[in-house]
Amino acid sequence: MASSTAHHPSVAQQAEIESFQDHLSKSTRILALLGAGLSASSGLPTFRGAGGLWRTHDATDLATPEAFSRNPGLVWQFYSYRRHMALKAKPNPAHYALAELARQKDGFLTLSQNVDGLSPRAKHPEDRLKLLHGSLFDVKCFEFFCNYVERNNYTDPIVPALAIPTSEEDPTTTSALAVRELDISDERVYIPELDYEHLPKCPKCKRGLLRPGVVWFGEALPSGVLSDIDDWMKQKGKVDLIMVIGTSAKVYPAAGYVDAARAKGARVAVFNMDPNDVPASGLYEGDWFFQGDAAQILPEILKPVIGELKEMPDAAAEQDDAVTDG
Ligand code: APR
Repeated sequence: MASSTAHHPSVAQQAEIESFQDHLSKSTRILALLGAGLSASSGLPTFRGAGGLWRTHDATDLATPEAFSRNPGLVWQFYSYRRHMALKAKPNPAHYALAELARQKDGFLTLSQNVDGLSPRAKHPEDRLKLLHGSLFDVKCFEFFCNYVERNNYTDPIVPALAIPTSEEDPTTTSALAVRELDISDERVYIPELDYEHLPKCPKCKRGLLRPGVVWFGEALPSGVLSDIDDWMKQKGKVDLIMVIGTSAKVYPAAGYVDAARAKGARVAVFNMDPNDVPASGLYEGDWFFQGDAAQILPEILKPVIGELKEMPDAAAEQDDAVTDG
């Protein structure tokens, strides 16, 4: 096991990188488990890092059906903000590198915990991308007896009451530049209290509130996604490799896929900023740990297999507005 930044690797790190590349090129059945760290350099905060608080709330406290029942206005404000930020963000080279690997290796399946839509926007082949936790851009009815679901709803804001408030910096000018969006993740920025009448309603049952189509704590993962992954796991042959990318791998059942893959023979390759964030079962002999920003190290390390990335029409890299985790 060795740490590495792909840019100036030591001899030992270079040997680790080459041993991984050699294994990847020979692998036919490959999994990836993706987490929020993959999108960090696109400017989207992770959950358990410094960006974990939204106003005064732990982001994970707002991600429950109970929180939505108690205060649907607040939960929608949180998700509307996340939809807005995700739409403003751009996929980074790691999203594109994984999409390219999926095109080149038939037996590569990606399991993503991310709901930000960046892998789909990097044209990751849809049938090879399993969204374990749903998507910010799906909406569904919160009523128990209504099964309304709408995919790919990119309307921002989804209802006028959820628009991000703006401020006019300088009241003496009418320039559009003077209008700036306020950062409503900061508790000092006022947001109104919203209730039923302000929030999006179900067009089918006409009664229920719509809710974001993400998997909240205490909810089951989408059954179709789970059965697709089960079918893949049960296919003939061992699993050669699982890449664990930008995730703290602490949230189950998603994190359980690392052990499931290992049980089918997989070696584990972790790509993470934080050397302590290894899967719960630790690293075994023959596993790899590559330390660094996934957006930088993943395309570098995958390069001998996928080649140089050419088409990144919407990439975040080297743009002025690309910021790191925070
Ligand atoms: N490159 C690589 N890794 C990074 C980077 C980066 N630029 N920035 C942060 N990381 C790592 C962190 O070290 C951490 O291990 O990404 C991981 C992010 O962990 P979490 O915030 O816990 O996010 P994630 O693992 O996706 O969370 C899983 O928890 O809250 C729920 O449903 C939510 O899908 C989410 C799930």
